[in-house]
Amino acid sequence: MMASIVGRRLLFSASVLLILLLPLLSAATDVEYCKKGADYPVKVSGIEISPYPVARGKPATFNISANTGDKISKGKLVIDVKYFGFHVHKETHDLCEETSCPVATGDFILSHQQTLPSFTPPGSYTLTMNLNGENGQQLTCIIFDFSIGVVSVADN
Ligand SMILES: *[C@@H]1O[C@H](CO)[C@@H](O)[C@H](O)[C@H]1NC(C)=O
Repeated sequence: MMASIVGRRLLFSASVLLILLLPLLSAATDVEYCKKGADYPVKVSGIEISPYPVARGKPATFNISANTGDKISKGKLVIDVKYFGFHVHKETHDLCEETSCPVATGDFILSHQQTLPSFTPPGSYTLTMNLNGENGQQLTCIIFDFSIGVVSVADN
């Protein structure tokens, strides 16, 4: 399949429009790879967090746009959360619970739902997400920051 220049332009304009409109509903956060310049088998192009800032006690959705060069049949997602640099939380998820498996070659979205406990203090968090393949090999690793709002939802 070949996309024409015009098609690409249109797609580009649509993406720009989307990027401009999205902050109204959610935040598109900058993603960095854990190791700068690493050539991971799975490429991540962006992450969208909704609602943003994340509210305690309410589910938040982390949508990660990724692309894989090889089909993935199984995988584990290891999530590590740091609060002002201190390790506070770690959990492992089955990749197939966050996207539909097997993941075909090309673009896919990893949709991660997370409810933060109501005692989570407001502030700046760093989340590291490691994706490992079925033999434990690292497929990708990303780091991004997010903040927790000060509005308390604990008392309802
Ligand atoms: C996240 O991705 C899922 C699955 O593709 C989609 O249904 C949902 O609407 C997305 N949520 C946001 C906030 O973009």
